[in-house]
Amino acid sequence: MQTAPPLSLAAEIQRLKKERDAVLLAHNYQIGEVQDVADFVGDSLALSQQAAKTSARVILFCGVHFMAETAALLAPDKTVLLPVLDAGCSLASTIEVMQLRAWKKAHPDALVVAYVNSTAEVKAESDYCCTSSNAVKVVESLPPDREILFVPDMYLGRFVREKTGRKILLWPGSCHVHYKMRDFDIERMKKDHPRAEFLVHPECGCLSSALRFADHIVSTGGMLRRVKESPSKEFLVATETGILHTMKKQCPEKNFIPISESAQCEFMKKITLENVLWSLQDMKHRVTVPPEVAEKARRAIDRMMAVPGV
Ligand code: 13P
Ligand code: SF4
Repeated sequence: MQTAPPLSLAAEIQRLKKERDAVLLAHNYQIGEVQDVADFVGDSLALSQQAAKTSARVILFCGVHFMAETAALLAPDKTVLLPVLDAGCSLASTIEVMQLRAWKKAHPDALVVAYVNSTAEVKAESDYCCTSSNAVKVVESLPPDREILFVPDMYLGRFVREKTGRKILLWPGSCHVHYKMRDFDIERMKKDHPRAEFLVHPECGCLSSALRFADHIVSTGGMLRRVKESPSKEFLVATETGILHTMKKQCPEKNFIPISESAQCEFMKKITLENVLWSLQDMKHRVTVPPEVAEKARRAIDRMMAVPGV
């Protein structure tokens, strides 16, 4: 008697997704195979928006912990799963809620803007949330006389300060992947590839040079939109290399050069097809936020979403 061949991992994930009524959301830094089984691939803002509007019962989040937490905040009646619980974020870990409380105490009249790469507890202590694609708009929407405490990314915060001219105090946090992209790297790469269009993520350590050289300082979603629209044939890309998968898929005729081949986020890369399958099989690991924290954190996110043009 002939037996049916075993389903491939990807096919088994698709089958289980239907059975569990799950939607699979993947960040642009995920490995290619995981991006390819996802229902939606995007940046932090786009993934949050997808989480908020999905009709699926389960959100399987292929990204890092703070992103799954944000999905849990925006879709409180859904089951949010993260295949690997210790998929953290070095940037989000640079600030503890107690440290933010102490900083606020020293600046009682300031407004706090928290980059989405932060824990739900930190968001709950903040007035506004922002992402890399809307940080400038969020800060521009605040009363001009108010001092702003920006957490936790100092490079994004500095970029927003230069763009808006606002009084912004910076928390000294950074991402260990983007921090390593330094000014001399981009100056050398720019010399070697003079015709390439240069795309830079605002978390990069090279941001002061990037302000002089970059054609676009944008979120990962902004980069993907730009490579599609642009007439350029060659791009220098200053961010985590996972994004090159979608860039090449979208525009196979164009050439994408990473500023650093080793710019890889090991937290993002913890997610594999195997643990995505196990996550669906065992319905774990569930990410939840305590209701009292969730209510306050949601307020900061809702205020961001209400900013015109976000
Ligand atoms: P994006 O919102 O631009 O996707 O950035 C998220 C992130 O973690 C960058 O390191
Ligand atoms: Fe966090 Fe950096 Fe990884 Fe983005 S690339 S998830 S900021 S550690």
